[in-house]
Amino acid sequence: MQSALVLTPVGARPIFSVAQLPKAGRASRNALVTRAAAITADEVPDMGKRTTMNLLLLGAGALPVGYMAFGFVSLVVPPKVAGAGGAQSAKTAAGDDVKASVWLQSHKKGDHSLVQGLKGDATYLVVTDQGEIEKYGINAVCTHLGCVVPWNDNENKFKCPCHGSQYNAEGKVVRGPAPLSLALAHADINNDIVFLDKWTEDDFRTGQKPWWS
Ligand code: FES
Repeated sequence: MQSALVLTPVGARPIFSVAQLPKAGRASRNALVTRAAAITADEVPDMGKRTTMNLLLLGAGALPVGYMAFGFVSLVVPPKVAGAGGAQSAKTAAGDDVKASVWLQSHKKGDHSLVQGLKGDATYLVVTDQGEIEKYGINAVCTHLGCVVPWNDNENKFKCPCHGSQYNAEGKVVRGPAPLSLALAHADINNDIVFLDKWTEDDFRTGQKPWWS
């Protein structure tokens, strides 16, 4: 399809359309062409104005695009809330940050209870004999075939219901078929929020390099 507008100087209003041409006589067409040729530089916005308008248009377009891009990135990138090291706040089952003061009101010494840990892994927070949150969390995934291992309060150990593996209160394997102890994560409190972070040092239960990192 032929363009509807012709002879339009950059940035200026249209002068006439192609549709007009067939209807106009030779004299009229000549007049139109003459008028187009007579347009002076004064009718064309100067370079400064055109540049300003282009920048305004670019800015107006960039704002919504940038807003949408930020929203998309914030959806796909998990929040890192503890600053350096990629630590993440421990979450309750409802997805709220675990507040140490609130947690300790209902979790007494010796308690092993689950939170959402690094990468969403089920992780036990431990309450020490002094009534504080232990400096490490214990990953609940069994090292045999990956069942979530429940804490047995009466026997003071973890007992896997799938194939009978057992781990002591620190998560060290004490009975197979699980080949390895439960993984550890650092647990630290910052502004009353419990943060979990990767454990990359030697495993204090075995004195060996951590198998999970
Ligand atoms: S998955 Fe835990 S013992 Fe097999």
